[in-house]
Amino acid sequence: MGEKQAEQQEPRKLTFRGKIFGLMFIICLLLAVLLIQVVNYYSQTTVETATDYPEITQKTTVEKSFRSSRETSILVTPNAAINQNIVQLVHDVTQRAIESAPTKPSIFSRFKLEQTIDCRITYFRENILSVVISARWQYGELTQTEQVLRTFDFTNGQPLMTADLFKNSLGFTQTFLADINRKLPSDQATDLAQISLAENQQNFVITRDGFWKLQLGKTEVSLSLSDYLKAFKPELLVRVFDEQSQTEKLPELATQRGDFCQKNPCVALTFDDGPTEQTPRLLDILRQQRVPVTFFVLGSAAERHPETIERAVNEGHRIGNHSWSHLNLRHKPAGQVAFEIDRANQTIERLSGEAPRLMRPPYGAYDQSVLNKLRANGQAAILWSVDPRDWDTTDVNLVVERATGAATNGSIILLHDNHASTVDAVESIIQDLRTRGFYFVTVETLFGGSVEAGERYFHN
Ligand code: NI
Repeated sequence: MGEKQAEQQEPRKLTFRGKIFGLMFIICLLLAVLLIQVVNYYSQTTVETATDYPEITQKTTVEKSFRSSRETSILVTPNAAINQNIVQLVHDVTQRAIESAPTKPSIFSRFKLEQTIDCRITYFRENILSVVISARWQYGELTQTEQVLRTFDFTNGQPLMTADLFKNSLGFTQTFLADINRKLPSDQATDLAQISLAENQQNFVITRDGFWKLQLGKTEVSLSLSDYLKAFKPELLVRVFDEQSQTEKLPELATQRGDFCQKNPCVALTFDDGPTEQTPRLLDILRQQRVPVTFFVLGSAAERHPETIERAVNEGHRIGNHSWSHLNLRHKPAGQVAFEIDRANQTIERLSGEAPRLMRPPYGAYDQSVLNKLRANGQAAILWSVDPRDWDTTDVNLVVERATGAATNGSIILLHDNHASTVDAVESIIQDLRTRGFYFVTVETLFGGSVEAGERYFHN
């Protein structure tokens, strides 16, 4: 009996011990896997953010592992050659940072190795883009930094050299080295004389506040651009010292980007019932103010002023259809609607070189048959959200007040270029809205670059 009991209890004991052992084994295995996971931990995330310039974005990649982290930024511009140059420079700077780092980080490292490679725009205007690429690593108390400066010519995507900037680059080099030496403590100045300027010819930026910053070896030098006005090539002077501000240049560039008005407050100025003998004066003001607008022209008027249509198109404005003879199209026979829209379309296409995508029905009056016709034509109906009733008064101040008072982000403002008082009011309208931070865009840009056939648009 006793033997039997022992026999029965023995395997039960073993099973219990076996279970504990098995469990311990599994826990150890899990811990080991977890440890391997922690050591081999690696994550990478990329985010794209806006810069001060709507056509340029910044792409930042964050790489994280157990004992190191790296944040790398590059700029994405509309110029592929510049993008490639920036990617290469960032890559080179990153490699140098990796090589100079004190140790390969391991699980036994005391500190974490943190690297940051940053791209910053110091100047972007008139096809000149200046960028500072800076690399920094930190490991405990140790840190190291490196900076690369480049100024790109947006027209060809290549970096500018100091020689590209000056009329007499050799004569200038001597003046310039003397100036730099004067700016530096005497011990550094001696070193600097040894540095060949040729090697550092690309290593400079222009800054928004009018400085010329150079990186010569480990030394950074800032000089006021205005001190070198006489030395600059005249064509470059125009590009760097043009009196127009960056904000005034933006609307033109903005038309190239679909999401501009999602990120910036925009309004669209529209002018109906022209072209007339007032229109060239309006175009002068718009050119001076660098404001693109949308004209809704009468086919019959366009035929009388073909040169005005051509000029408006050449100066960056858009031409929409406002019917042939300003007929109220609501409740009209389909044949008459078709005649009014199609004849104006044909005239506009002949004069502007492009079939109009936009149509504004006279008096804002339309019905389903008008919308059907527009849909069949591939055109959208463009109405408005701000009506200053500029045809109702000759009081310029009143027109300005009514046009600007109700304007909000996304407004389509209705004006008429067959009224002299409206043209008189335009400059003040622009200045008022610009002061309030609005950008001026064409109707299509207001709606992200394109509008849908047969749809109605009042306000973005
Ligand atoms: Ni009209």
